[in-house]
Amino acid sequence: MFRVLPDAEGLAREAAREFAASAAESVRDRGLFCVALSGGSTPRLLHERLAGDWAREIAWERVRFYFGDERCVPPDHERSNYRMARETLFDPLAISATRIFRMRGEEEPRRAALDYEAELRTHVPAEGVIPRLDLVLLGLGSDGHTASLFPETQALVEKRRLAAANFVAKFSEWRLTLTYPCLRAARRILFLVTGAEKSDAAAAILGRRGGDSLPAGRVKPRSGSVLWLLDRAAAAKLPVDGSTADGRR
Ligand code: 6PG
Repeated sequence: MFRVLPDAEGLAREAAREFAASAAESVRDRGLFCVALSGGSTPRLLHERLAGDWAREIAWERVRFYFGDERCVPPDHERSNYRMARETLFDPLAISATRIFRMRGEEEPRRAALDYEAELRTHVPAEGVIPRLDLVLLGLGSDGHTASLFPETQALVEKRRLAAANFVAKFSEWRLTLTYPCLRAARRILFLVTGAEKSDAAAAILGRRGGDSLPAGRVKPRSGSVLWLLDRAAAAKLPVDGSTADGRR
């Protein structure tokens, strides 16, 4: 299922509406909204909308913030996904640190991944044995990666752990990332994709050929939903009728 928005601003507005709807439903049904934020630059506009137009529309005191991935840098580093979220969302909304669960990029990666899994298992309500995040925001790289699940990396084959330390050879660096077992347990996945450089990857995943040859294409919640929001540039190579590879609209 995908929706095409005119531009990055339009996508941020639609994403904010989806975020607010997920939050309202989760708080109504469970008194809590556990959301994993995406890294990169695309979410900035969404964060600004949430901290602006939606500041008084969401029960922020019921929201627990997690992360889909993190670079292995300190939390105040310019490349830190946590720092971007703090500057654009947490500080403007005065979110209590007690409800922010960041991946500790400053620690030894394997240790940090194990600790993050423990955080998820402690604080995110589970149905069965796996914690179910209510919403996971994800981006898409031009190589088809999402979170820090990059092509040809070890974390792609992780079948048990909920978070992993993942060495990304193309950058010669370690990353921390949620794994497919964790993502597949989510209630809702929302992909935010902007820019022409994503159009080939988007077409390989959502086009008529479709397929799960790319990491982002393998994010398939067991009983949750996936919605892709793309701007026109990223959707340029998709069927205009909005039908996906398996015919869903
Ligand atoms: C990261 C991300 C990564 C990102 C995509 C898209 O830490 O970089 O989590 O998966 O979402 O690379 O990044 P942009 O939004 O900057 O295009």
